Amino acid sequence: MSELILLKLGGSVITDKTRPFTARLDVIERLAGEIKNALDERGDDLRLIIGHGSGSFGHEVAARYQTHQGAVRPDSWLGFAEVAAAAAELNAIVMKALRDAGVPAMKFQPSASTRTRGEQLMYFETFPIKEVLQHGLAPVVYGDVSVDASQGMSIVSTEKLFDNLARELSPDRIILVGRVDGVFEADPLTHPDAELIEFIDSSNWEEVEAKLAGSHGVDVTGGMLSKVREMYRLTVAMPPMQAMIMSAEEPGRLEAVLKGQMVDFGTLIN
Ligand code: IPE
Repeated sequence: MSELILLKLGGSVITDKTRPFTARLDVIERLAGEIKNALDERGDDLRLIIGHGSGSFGHEVAARYQTHQGAVRPDSWLGFAEVAAAAAELNAIVMKALRDAGVPAMKFQPSASTRTRGEQLMYFETFPIKEVLQHGLAPVVYGDVSVDASQGMSIVSTEKLFDNLARELSPDRIILVGRVDGVFEADPLTHPDAELIEFIDSSNWEEVEAKLAGSHGVDVTGGMLSKVREMYRLTVAMPPMQAMIMSAEEPGRLEAVLKGQMVDFGTLIN
């Protein structure tokens, strides 16, 4: 049986979060190459669904229009289209890099096939994604806007999409690539001496949750705590699936993880 991995390239990795609408093209191209190398080495043994965040593209515009809070302003629907366009703009950059590297990637625009109810992803049309995956393609999804049953509109994060896909597809691993090397006891960007949490499981979850609650900033899709919480709950629901949160700032790390090598970085959740 081939291994199925859901891989997210976080918005903080593929964009410069301090500069609106700025992609880190060199990083995107390098990661596309690492993905291609892993696929080449493993052949039919590895199937991949790729997702990516929105970073300084979608988050910037979503915060301006408060899209995650729903249709709350006269120009909310205009904002809905603007956020979707920003997310799609970054997706086009990622798709070009993947395809130029030789990854058989095909994008699926989430806003065309999802419906949320507040925090909940009620509906996600996954049939075409599953079908192309079976035929050797690497489907690509991304954080996007979504029509929402209770508040008109919302934002759907890559993690939410992955949660849904994971429950349907029982992947072996979910890998979230971020800017920082895993889950830290405090935000390492503001607390350089914060310690890395190497493993999260039922034995330390409550402690980890309490630490993260007090210490990390938020973004429109909830920040580190909600991402870790979603992944923890998912691994509990879907054993033996594992989730890994890691950085790919150092060249070769993502490739090693995708190839299934033993590594000594990142945070493992199960
Ligand atoms: C955010 O998606 C989507 C928008 C703001 C449009 P994600 O939650 O998947 O993205 P990042 O990784 O935080 O940027």
